[in-house]
Amino acid sequence: MADGSSKPNVLICGGVNTYSRALAAFLVPLEGEPLVSHLRIVDKYSVVPATTYLGAEFPKVLAKPQVDYKQANLTVPSIVHSIFDPPEGKGPYDYVFDLTGEVRHDRTEMILINTTCNVARMLGQEAAERKVKAYVRFTLPFYETTSKGTHDEKDDPKPDGTIGIWWHETLRMLAAIEDLNLVILRVGFVYGPYVEFGDITSAITVGSVYGYLKKPMKSVWSPGKNPTNTLHVEDLAGAAWASAQWIARLGRKEADILAGESIIFRNDKSKVSQVEGMPPHDKKLIAPLFNLVDDSNSTLLSVGQTVTSFFGTTFDFFNLGERTMYKISTSIMLADGHK
Ligand SMILES: *[C@@H]1O[C@H](CO)[C@@H](O)[C@H](O)[C@H]1NC(C)=O
Ligand SMILES: *[C@@H]1O[C@H](CO)[C@@H](O)[C@H](O)[C@H]1NC(C)=O
Repeated sequence: MADGSSKPNVLICGGVNTYSRALAAFLVPLEGEPLVSHLRIVDKYSVVPATTYLGAEFPKVLAKPQVDYKQANLTVPSIVHSIFDPPEGKGPYDYVFDLTGEVRHDRTEMILINTTCNVARMLGQEAAERKVKAYVRFTLPFYETTSKGTHDEKDDPKPDGTIGIWWHETLRMLAAIEDLNLVILRVGFVYGPYVEFGDITSAITVGSVYGYLKKPMKSVWSPGKNPTNTLHVEDLAGAAWASAQWIARLGRKEADILAGESIIFRNDKSKVSQVEGMPPHDKKLIAPLFNLVDDSNSTLLSVGQTVTSFFGTTFDFFNLGERTMYKISTSIMLADGHK
């Protein structure tokens, strides 16, 4: 039964450079019934002409009658407010998927605060005020993971560098918004059609070059047992949808009881007074959180082996002497052929 009016209106913020395109294609597939009544995607990129990689499929999704794309600067509060106003004749947004955040490692702390924390905090506050039924925030694997122990939702991994610290702080800021129907998805290393962002895509690209050169692809990180949990982008989309439906039914309080995890302070205490909207270091913050990875238990080694197997070569590690040389020199990982 295709009753358009009973389907939710959905807003996707950010992530056109990462996973929003796949999520949009899941919600409004090229063939078959859309899951949503109306979908708006908002990001800083222009799509006509494209100012980022779009792939072959996304422009066709954008052409669907249910879909509306807005190029907007989400660091501006009045713009954040306005994107929640639906087009004429449409009801308010029911679900928001928040894929915003700066993904480049070379950005300063100030840029990360402005474009990762502040954007998400403003979106979260606006969504709470408008009583959005589900707000699904994605957090990317900007964490250090060791080979020891299981990595379940109770795990409190250390944020990796400046980018990790501020992506993690963003979760605390969102968790602090009491009435926000928040679900946090802590995703693994995502791959799949038209995904040109991330470590798996880089590995595939580099692996193809080594395959072409008929040389083994070598890593400087031995022995490669560190978890590199993977996730197909279509599974990410399916899980995002399921999470939204889940919390829309329950509400935040009930969802906290069932799946709430403590979002532990991982920052410098002196920042609390300097950064707007940053909850005190000792404030106990709980939010529903799910790890989202496939069940392959991928490691650096298994990813390297899988990728190279497709290009007719093998995956290997530099020996200790070579790794020492690597540390001394400033060569880039995997960039130089092994002599
Ligand atoms: C977005 O808005 C901020 C704040 O006004 C401004 O500093 C920034 O340059 C804008 N970004 C773009 C891409 O226009
Ligand atoms: C970050 O935002 C603050 C406050 O709006 C502004 O003063 C500052 O220039 C911004 N910095 C960067 C690097 O965007």
